[in-house]
Amino acid sequence: MVRESGADVARVNFDGVSKAFDGSLAVDDLSMEVLDGELLVLLGPSGCGKTTALRMVAGLEDPTGGTVSIGDTVVNDVEPKDRDVAMVFQSYALYPHMTLRRNIEFPLRQQRIAADERGRRVEEAAATLGLGELLDRKPGQLSGGQRQRVALARAIVRDPKVFLMDEPLSNLDATLRIQTRADIVALQRRLGTTTIYVTHDQVEAMTMGHRIAVMRDGRLQQVAAPQDLYERPGNTFVASFLGSPGMNLLPARWAGGVLSVDGESIDLPGSVTAIADGPITLGVRPESASLNSTGIAASVVLVEQLGAETHVICALADGTRVVVRQRNQRVRPDLGDPVAITVDPEALHFFDAETGERLDVGR
Ligand SMILES: Nc1ncnc2c1ncn2[C@@H]1O[C@H](COP(=O)(O)OP(=O)(O)OP(=O)(O)O)[C@@H](O)[C@H]1O
Ligand SMILES: [Mg+2]
Repeated sequence: MVRESGADVARVNFDGVSKAFDGSLAVDDLSMEVLDGELLVLLGPSGCGKTTALRMVAGLEDPTGGTVSIGDTVVNDVEPKDRDVAMVFQSYALYPHMTLRRNIEFPLRQQRIAADERGRRVEEAAATLGLGELLDRKPGQLSGGQRQRVALARAIVRDPKVFLMDEPLSNLDATLRIQTRADIVALQRRLGTTTIYVTHDQVEAMTMGHRIAVMRDGRLQQVAAPQDLYERPGNTFVASFLGSPGMNLLPARWAGGVLSVDGESIDLPGSVTAIADGPITLGVRPESASLNSTGIAASVVLVEQLGAETHVICALADGTRVVVRQRNQRVRPDLGDPVAITVDPEALHFFDAETGERLDVGR
């Protein structure tokens, strides 16, 4: 379904795109391509520039530098209404005095589409989103989840080249979020419409995206498929942002071919090469750490029982927090217990202690 080339494909390209507000960069030199038919998730913490990037595609914000293209057309100077994109906002932005039918057909009226075709397309979009029975109600007579689906229906009714979705699920409760998330994925896969989906929720990103673009402070950190991002994070920020809880980052030393944390050496299998002697940051996923009788000395500061698994949060001598994820373990340590942490030597990640960049350790 994801096509890479063709006549007028709906890819979106950011080429060196920046946006400054009052002299400070909300988006800083963003370059990436969203493939035709792809659902690309823009992920990052609050204020990192996700909405700004999306609004530049919609034409609601002018880039300070660089070019945005949709298909083969640079759209920097194209009016929002002529870009053939549909945006779904976090606040549903429905007209309260209009029925659902009028709300959904609103963009078609603006495009001066004839009444019978309007009717047909509204019925189709409403049916797709399970709103068929509700078309004569007003937004005030709907649940939050239904309102969000109206906003989605209003986007798909236009059959745009590109969907732009800005945290469309954040007003929904946990159960409805998960369900609507699945609905959006199914819809996007069926329609095959190129979609940029903004969220700060890494679980949403992992479950929805063909690829995820991680941003921080206006800068793109890494773009990759969810599993690749999880398995090979390019820096400590991506490592700790993805995963629930994120990757543990331990101060470590590499000297004469020996890796150690807090004076405790860790045996590595085979061929770790090409790291200079000195301090490094060691990345350990919570599932790759366990509690044993010997290992890195720590004490238990918190135990979180989650039913299927337990998170044991430990502190090393220097205060560094390490989360150990346990499943089916009989031994559940108590608060304040001294423990020893061991790590799976096959599942370690190495990062530059200063820059946080991933180190290629030759395996
Ligand atoms: N119209 C504006 N005027 C001035 N500064 C702005 C404007 N819009 C956004 N910013 C600033 O740009 C930065 C990026 O904002 P943006 O809304 O893109 O972040 P975001 O990643 O969408 O955050 P959130 O997850 O909270 O929605 C922030 O520092 C914000 O304060
Ligand atoms: Mg935002």
